[in-house]
Amino acid sequence: MTTLRSADETFEWGRQLAGGLRAGDVIALCGNLGAGKTQATKGIVAGLGAVADVTSPTFTLVHEYGGGSLPVFHFDFYRMESEDEVVSLGWDEYLDEPGVVIVEWADRFPRLMPKNTRWFRLANVSENARTVQEASPPAWSAGAETPL
Ligand SMILES: Nc1ncnc2c1ncn2[C@@H]1O[C@H](COP(=O)(O)OP(=O)(O)O)[C@@H](O)[C@H]1O
Ligand SMILES: [Mg+2]
Repeated sequence: MTTLRSADETFEWGRQLAGGLRAGDVIALCGNLGAGKTQATKGIVAGLGAVADVTSPTFTLVHEYGGGSLPVFHFDFYRMESEDEVVSLGWDEYLDEPGVVIVEWADRFPRLMPKNTRWFRLANVSENARTVQEASPPAWSAGAETPL
């Protein structure tokens, strides 16, 4: 477990994580509202050298960041009604892209997450601190020990 004592430290955690990422990697960021998932995502995007949010303004449920060593596709399942809605956004195609997929609230629809997903849990332990730890895949995900 890592303690992150400022928003900058959360960003830095993401930036460090990015250094080990390769095309096809999938990152699940779980934890309550305010736990730092979006801040960590910003760090990952920066760590990959991506700058531009190339998302079409009419398609804001998926944010695409380009211009870096790998493209990033950023989802927030908190904003999705159902697994079907995610699938209809082209989920399978995004997973096939040679880039990195980052999903906030991935534990909302764990069955959608592929086996190679790396799961992280963030927690809001106080106003000025968060914790983050890598976790095993939740039950009912493709990566669970006893998947569906
Ligand atoms: N380690 C931290 N300590 C203090 N504040 C943080 C930390 N990490 C992130 N924050 C701040 O907490 C707020 C919520 O972060 P955010 O990344 O939007 O959370 P989430 O996406 O999990 O809801 C933001 O204002 C962010 O800057
Ligand atoms: Mg968020």
